[in-house]
Amino acid sequence: MPLIPEGILDEVQARTDIADLIGRYVPLKRAGRHFKAHCPFHKERTPSFMVNTEKQIFHCFGCGVGGNIFGFLMQHDRLTFPEAVRQLADHAGVRIPDEAEASSRTAHASMSTLLEKVCQHFERRLLDPAGGKAAREYLSRRGVSARARQAFRLGLAPSGWQGLLEAAKATGVSTEELEAAGLVIKGRSGYYDRFRHRLMFPIVDLRGRVVGFGGRSLDAQEPKYLNSPETPLYTKGRHLFGMSQAKDAVIHAKAAVVVEGYFDCVALADGGVAHVVSPLGTALTVEQARLLKRYAEQAILAFDADAAGEQGTLRGIDLLVEAGLQVRVAQLPQGMDPDEYLGAYGRQGLEQLLDRSKGIFDVLLETALRRHPGGDTESRVQAAQFVLPTIARVPSAMRRSEYVRLLAERLRLDAGAVAEELAKAQPRGSAAPRAAQGGSPRADQAARPATRGPEALLTALVLDDAARWTRGSEPVSLGDITDPALRRILAVVCELAAAGLSASPAQVASRLSEEGQGAAVAELVELAGATPSKDEAFEDCARRIRAAARTRELAAMREQIQTAQEAGHEAEVQRLLAAYQHELAPQR
Ligand code: UTP
Ligand code: MN
Repeated sequence: MPLIPEGILDEVQARTDIADLIGRYVPLKRAGRHFKAHCPFHKERTPSFMVNTEKQIFHCFGCGVGGNIFGFLMQHDRLTFPEAVRQLADHAGVRIPDEAEASSRTAHASMSTLLEKVCQHFERRLLDPAGGKAAREYLSRRGVSARARQAFRLGLAPSGWQGLLEAAKATGVSTEELEAAGLVIKGRSGYYDRFRHRLMFPIVDLRGRVVGFGGRSLDAQEPKYLNSPETPLYTKGRHLFGMSQAKDAVIHAKAAVVVEGYFDCVALADGGVAHVVSPLGTALTVEQARLLKRYAEQAILAFDADAAGEQGTLRGIDLLVEAGLQVRVAQLPQGMDPDEYLGAYGRQGLEQLLDRSKGIFDVLLETALRRHPGGDTESRVQAAQFVLPTIARVPSAMRRSEYVRLLAERLRLDAGAVAEELAKAQPRGSAAPRAAQGGSPRADQAARPATRGPEALLTALVLDDAARWTRGSEPVSLGDITDPALRRILAVVCELAAAGLSASPAQVASRLSEEGQGAAVAELVELAGATPSKDEAFEDCARRIRAAARTRELAAMREQIQTAQEAGHEAEVQRLLAAYQHELAPQR
């Protein structure tokens, strides 16, 4: 949210009452201290839409929409976050300064400079005659040319624990800066490099600036790919790997090939398919789909032909269709990824594969029939139900009705009845509430947090009262939270509290509106509301989260020790073993 200062958001919220706002759109009935209404986002007979005036949020128990004042306008009037803020600011008489926050901008600029330097450092390590030899050989074994290596600015993080730390120190970069940029990690016994013995893929924004890295292991070290953590410059799901390099080709072709992996992306670009991009280690997100839509009319999904790839494809179809893209799906042979296909069949083979890609209707129907074979009435109905939620997302009414006709014909169902079912599957609000409805299991958003389990309850209880976070007797840190969406929510609470601001749910939701998490915040608030003995529940969650985190920490330490042993770093092994023993010793 770089453009609107947060003080403005707070002021707009302070001057706008949520019941006033929503009351302009739907009649509200008083229910105790709060208000009830028929949900404007889905059809219902009994009201399940609640407006919580105390927390200044709304939430529908029926369809799952929720959020604060900004979230309501975004969803109801299909506005972007800045548009919703501007509209409410106008109404409340709050002036928005043109451009904002010089201070955070300089912080961004210096992190950006650092990442550029680090990228050059990794590039130099790869070109080092002796130190980079094995990695260069690895690249040539995998058929990556020097041209692609340069275009993607590939680099090498050598195998030491402190190579980057020391190089940075020599040039006057502080350890704190490196840590903030996600490049070093603070361990029990000091800082060490996050990326070790990895082939480095810089993640670059649309203006060509390095915002983070993905590193592919050059030995058996897990994970195979290690990615930068989120930083002020890098938000997961907001960037597409390769977009900066592919942009002109995507505009020219009016299409983009979307592949799963870093390597697929580099290999295809190298092999002459320039309009190729990849989501980064996560399933495709709404933001990535919108980003693509800015440059392309068509997306060709070429995910790995395995179970994960199929799931990714189905999810990708929904998101991309909803973003208004035409979607096609390349049919790779079972078990292959695009990089391997290119290696086996060459550029021509790959181009033919892309030309033969199928439209979404065929892909969905085939998948549906594979999952519901038999041809009996029940199977055919279920096959239709599988296809309909996606058809409902197609923006063109003509295409939708044509798909209905085809679906009815192919499944020998009555077209009128299929159309009726489509109306039920028909999304009503904008992308956000629809994702929140989660009607079909594959329509859920990856970014949506868990709403059960200790991490969810703990987050809910912190939203209910931010002071709990620091008041608990078992100190939980953000790093202990494994669910990225919950971690993000907690991080926002911490940021607000650290800045001495109120961390009310409405305020937290504001900071997260653009990321589509307003509804999640509202849902968590309801969860906290329904929890008796909140402080005890908090302690219990904290204990369980700490225990799980400790188990993971110990496993990570064992892994570090093993790596150091294999690399023959005897002093390092001793140091780590001592730290491990120290950690194992009974605490308190
Ligand atoms: P793949 O394992 O298919 O990677 O994961 P790949 O690019 O084909 O790699 P090679 O060919 O084995 O070298 C697909 C993508 O998922 C993410 C990365 O973005 C990767 O490119 N990923 C995978 C991770 O983020 N972490 C992992 O541990 C594995
Ligand atoms: Mn691969």
